[in-house]
Amino acid sequence: MYNTLVTALENGIFIITINRPDKMNALNKTVLEELSTAVDEVYENPEIRSALITGAGNKAFVAGADISEFLELLPELAPDLAKKGQLVFDKIESSPKPIVAAVNGFALGGGCELALSCHFIYASDNAKFGQPEVNLGLIPGYGGTQRLTQVIGRNRAMELLMTGKMITAKEAMQYGIVNEVTSQDELLDKLKETLLLIHSKATFAVAKIIECVNNFDHTQQGYDYEIEKFGDCFETEDMKEGVSAFIEKRKPKFSGK
Ligand code: COA
Repeated sequence: MYNTLVTALENGIFIITINRPDKMNALNKTVLEELSTAVDEVYENPEIRSALITGAGNKAFVAGADISEFLELLPELAPDLAKKGQLVFDKIESSPKPIVAAVNGFALGGGCELALSCHFIYASDNAKFGQPEVNLGLIPGYGGTQRLTQVIGRNRAMELLMTGKMITAKEAMQYGIVNEVTSQDELLDKLKETLLLIHSKATFAVAKIIECVNNFDHTQQGYDYEIEKFGDCFETEDMKEGVSAFIEKRKPKFSGK
């Protein structure tokens, strides 16, 4: 079905593997388009409870946008490319179902931006993160200056973006980019374990958590948003089930309604 992705559905987890290992899984036009379609599947297929994005092979998650497509790109069309990438990554970030990144090697440029657009990231101990666009006379275009700053703060983002240097998985964890570092062998299993734990929770509440966190705002607006979504949860059967189960000292059986 896809030329540049391999997908599989396993226990409700949609595994999306970007499959151009000879090109370090670089994001060319086709990968971006197919990734967009695969994310649509996550939104639309009720059998999919969550998704995990990873890279084929053991060297790279994604080593960036496909640099070979840049030379022929006319300046007036470059913003369109950035816009297209941002639309896909925004769709990942806004997904009502969890979409997480299993970073199994280089996550550079668009690869780092892709991982940052996911709801959280686990990485194997050989992973490297960076925004090396400055080495090409460029800046990130798929949201990197914004999401990286949001995740690691202004000063660290400034340094990483201006130097283009790579950081290790361990450093990425210290920076708050990565939630957990595992061995290469354990990466997918650990992340699947966490996703299965999330599957056992109330689907509506999970979706509202994603929405509220994505709408984080220092001002009263963020808190007001939370008030509204908190209220919405009271309309669900799962909320009644969760609260009743606690009172009755039993495990809740969520139905997703
Ligand atoms: N776009 C297109 N092709 C890429 C690529 C990218 N972002 N990253 C790697 N490749 C290709 C290489 O050109 C090479 O292709 P070839 O075998 O046909 O020559 C192949 O992937 C293997 O990469 P190579 O550089 O030989 O591997 P390496 O182990 O020596 O280095 C990296 C790995 C990731 C450090 C290095 O490939 C790199 O710096 N890539 C570019 C990262 C970048 O600048 N990303 C931001 C883009 S905006």
